[in-house]
This record gives sequence, structure tokens and C-alpha cells, in this order.
Amino acid sequence: SHQWRGVIEEYRDLLDIPAGTPSVTLGEGGTPLVRSEWLSGLTDGEVWLKVEGQNPTGSFKDRGMTAAISVAVHEGAKACVCASTGNTSASMAAYAAKAGLTPIVLVPDGKIAAGKLAQALVHGAQVIQVRGNFDDCLKLSRGLADHYPVSLVNSVNPVRLEGQKTAAFEIVDRLGDAPDYHLMPIGNAGNMSAYWLGYRQYADAGKATRKPVLRAFQAEGAAPLVLGRPVEFPETRATAIRIGNPASWELAEAAREQSGGRFAALPDEKILSAQADLARRDGVFVEPASAVGVAGLLAEVEAGESYAGKSVVITVTGHGLKDTITALEFFGDIPQVVVDADIDAAAAAAGLV
Ligand code: F0G
Repeated sequence: SHQWRGVIEEYRDLLDIPAGTPSVTLGEGGTPLVRSEWLSGLTDGEVWLKVEGQNPTGSFKDRGMTAAISVAVHEGAKACVCASTGNTSASMAAYAAKAGLTPIVLVPDGKIAAGKLAQALVHGAQVIQVRGNFDDCLKLSRGLADHYPVSLVNSVNPVRLEGQKTAAFEIVDRLGDAPDYHLMPIGNAGNMSAYWLGYRQYADAGKATRKPVLRAFQAEGAAPLVLGRPVEFPETRATAIRIGNPASWELAEAAREQSGGRFAALPDEKILSAQADLARRDGVFVEPASAVGVAGLLAEVEAGESYAGKSVVITVTGHGLKDTITALEFFGDIPQVVVDADIDAAAAAAGLV
């Protein structure tokens, strides 16, 4: 048995990164594929959750960040910059800290979850809160990297996708082949693009006999890929995917088309109730944006789509502890019980008597 070495050392030969790139790792990747008894029963299929909240900073971003920061170090960078709805900034701050780089993050003011803001600040990032949305932040981030000696680590940096594609490798390594379907949330569109790279590479190498159909889901108030045009003022409680003009639009569109897949949008209530159901039925607590793939499956089943006899992977992208405020607000109508330190009172409150 060996300790998991992080995605660069586990998959170095399959990654298009410069020879001699060091591995700045926090042990990312190797995340569990958890069978959903609930969704398997509901669909009469085999539904697996790829639980990316188990990564070191609590989201899938760590896969791409180990690659981006390692290459930045290899190229002699001293500082790095990203725009973020929260998770990328948390991840970049951690990997930059480990590598000794100065992290600069641009986030939409007041619109990122508290846990993510805390991560970026505690890891020592220069956090710049921008009066604007993610799309404005991304323009600034690209501009800073163009004009100053800072390395851009948003997913427009192709090295990010090299790291993130390892999630597809892990799924095939575990299941023995690609699933029939792969569902996920989509925001800036890097992750879907990366999965497609990974699945194609494994199929080309003969490590999988097929590639999955990709289905990616947005929030209704931030659904440019569904509408086919940018959204100027994106709005959703799922702040991680509050994005109106995804940077990897063309790559994701190609992945959708080549895989025979589709994009669809869901209202926030369905996203939040999928988050609650996943926590209560499967024991997996994810942040709102991370429940969007599950909400998508539920909506499709409701609309009569069949997944019977099929294997389905749903990526749940980030940990529920990232955003406890939204979770507690959603459950705000459930009274919280307070009793004296007394066994009879506790037993009564617990419904045991
Ligand atoms: N789920 C979570 C939890 C995310 O944080 C993101 C993106 C996505 C899904 C969508 O992935 O952008 O590759 O299509 N978060 C970015 C960030 C934008 O800044 O953390 P995508």
C-alpha cells in the first residue's frame, strides 16, 4: 500500500506539463466515488457521486491548482493571480502558500461564501473585493497578468485543465470503464472541458471502451450556456456558479456536442432542495452549486428521462462547510431545540417518549 501522492505524481506521464515540473502538492485527488443508494434506487441505474469536497481545500479546484502553481514555480513566478467566485481563490491561496508565492485574488464584493473568504485570507492572500461580478473580476485578473509580473492561474491557463482532467482518469480507473453518463454543474466551464479531455485521452489510449454523454447544469439566473448568450447580471444563491460569460465556452460547447450531451438550467429552490436531500439521504453535504448535477438528474427523471440500467457519475464539486450561511437560511424554518441539562427534557425533545 502506498500513500496517494497527489495528481501530478500519480498521473505525470499523462499530463501535458513541462518536463521537470516540480510537484507542489497537498495530496489532492484520489477522491472517493460513493454509490448513491438513493439515486440508484430512484433511477434503477448505478449512480455514483465523485465527492470532490474531499480535496485538501474542499473543492475540485485543487486538481488544477497543483498543476498551475507547480508550473508557475517551474517558470520562476513570484506571484499569482486569479478571479474567483470563492473556491479557486481558496485553492490558489493554499497552494501559493505552500510554494512561497504571493497570492492575489479578485472576488465579487459580498458575493462569495464566508468559508471561502476565510480560507483565502487565512492562507495569506491579498484579497481584493471588486464592485462587480465574476466576469468583471476575470477581466481584471487577465489584465493584471498581462501588465505585471504575476502568473494567471484561472482555468483560461490550459495547465489548470491538465490537472483537472485527472478526475476522469480516477473514475475510469475505479469503474473499469467510462460511465454511460456524466452529470455536473457548470459555471466558467473549465471543469466540463477538463473531464472531456480526460475521457478522450483514456479512450484514445485504450483504457476505456467509450466516452460518456456529458450533461451540465446551470442555475436559471446564470445560464448563458443554456440561453446561448452571455448574461449581463447573473444571479443565484449558488454563488460558486454566479457567472454570466464563461471563459471556456467554446471548449464546453465542443464537449457537449462531441459527447451527444446537453445543457439545462434549474431554479434555485430545486438546487437547494437537492442539496438537502443529498445530505439527508446519502450523508453527503455539499455546497449549493455542487448539488446542481443532482438537481439536474432529479429534474430529468421527473420529465420522464430514463437512466435505467445505465451507469451515471455525478460530480459534487465542493464541500458543504464552505457555505453554512446559505444552508442554515434554507433550513431556517426548522426550529432549533434548546433544553435544560436534564434527561427527561432531552428524551422528550428527541421524541423518545
Ligand atoms: N462547483 C463549484 C463548487 C465551483 O466552485 C465551480 C466554479 C463550479 C462548480 C463550476 O466549475 O467553473 O469549471 O464550470 N468555481 C469557480 C471559482 C468559478 O472561482 O471557484 P467551472
